[in-house]
Amino acid sequence: MPMKHPLTITKLKTMKQSGEPISMLTAYDYPSAKLAEEAGIDVILVGDSLGNVVLGYDTTIPVTLDDMVYHTKAVARGAAHTFIVADMPFATYRIGKEATLRNAARLMQEGGAQAVKMEGGADIAEEVSALVRAGIPVLGHIGLTPQSVHQLGGYRVQGKQEREAQSLIEDAQALEAAGAFGIVLELVTEPLAEAVTSKLSIPTIGIGAGRGCDGQVLVFHDLLQYASPYREKRFVKTYADLGTTIRGAIGAYVGDVKSRAFPEQKHAFPMEQELVQRLYGGGGERDGGPDSASSVVKGGDRS
Ligand code: KIV
Repeated sequence: MPMKHPLTITKLKTMKQSGEPISMLTAYDYPSAKLAEEAGIDVILVGDSLGNVVLGYDTTIPVTLDDMVYHTKAVARGAAHTFIVADMPFATYRIGKEATLRNAARLMQEGGAQAVKMEGGADIAEEVSALVRAGIPVLGHIGLTPQSVHQLGGYRVQGKQEREAQSLIEDAQALEAAGAFGIVLELVTEPLAEAVTSKLSIPTIGIGAGRGCDGQVLVFHDLLQYASPYREKRFVKTYADLGTTIRGAIGAYVGDVKSRAFPEQKHAFPMEQELVQRLYGGGGERDGGPDSASSVVKGGDRS
């Protein structure tokens, strides 16, 4: 596969201007990042959805900066040629510019991200511009902002009322003015997402925001139904059913172990028959003779 050059924030803006849609997917570890890169994704987001889909929390609120740094490092190892954005988790910003800067810097210096994402609009504009001035590219995130789920009263579509829709547009413009290189629009009506997209010169990346955004983002585990139990979401298109495949495969393995159908002779490592005789005496044979499982050197060659 030819070596890919990671995108830059300039290229992302050019993609908006030329009408080339931006593909973004979350990833949280080495294999998911590597597979996403091999599949040609434009941008990987190490989302704090980590909390829901990997760590088993009900919300993203318990996710810590250390969690994000740890997982961003793994993603960066798996996708060295892809533009990586890491989420600033709950309460690691909105706490003053200096602390915000220190926290964002960790995601880049230790984690290896090229940019950070922050939830909020006009209310975080000052922090966004402080990061941008310090050389930290920021992706905004408005609409449904899961870190504020308790304040929003649940995971519901945003911008359905006139005032709400107007303030969402103002938030987007404030983020652009603060220097954000793009904005995630989550769970907003399609006409509102189109309006925001047309008013900005920076790209919008939608999730549950319809067809009019400059790009789309999905959560890795939603795209692949890699969860148990899997919960259908209207805005997700699933491209594979890994949950069913994995459960079936593990069930088959359990069955094979219980029935002794696994391991077979071909999975075991033989030992010279003469040595078996000398060490252990007797026939040293079981079912298949000298190559049988009873002649395996424990802890030996695993290849
Ligand atoms: O954390 C996340 O995965 C996100 C996406 C839903 C945009 O913020």
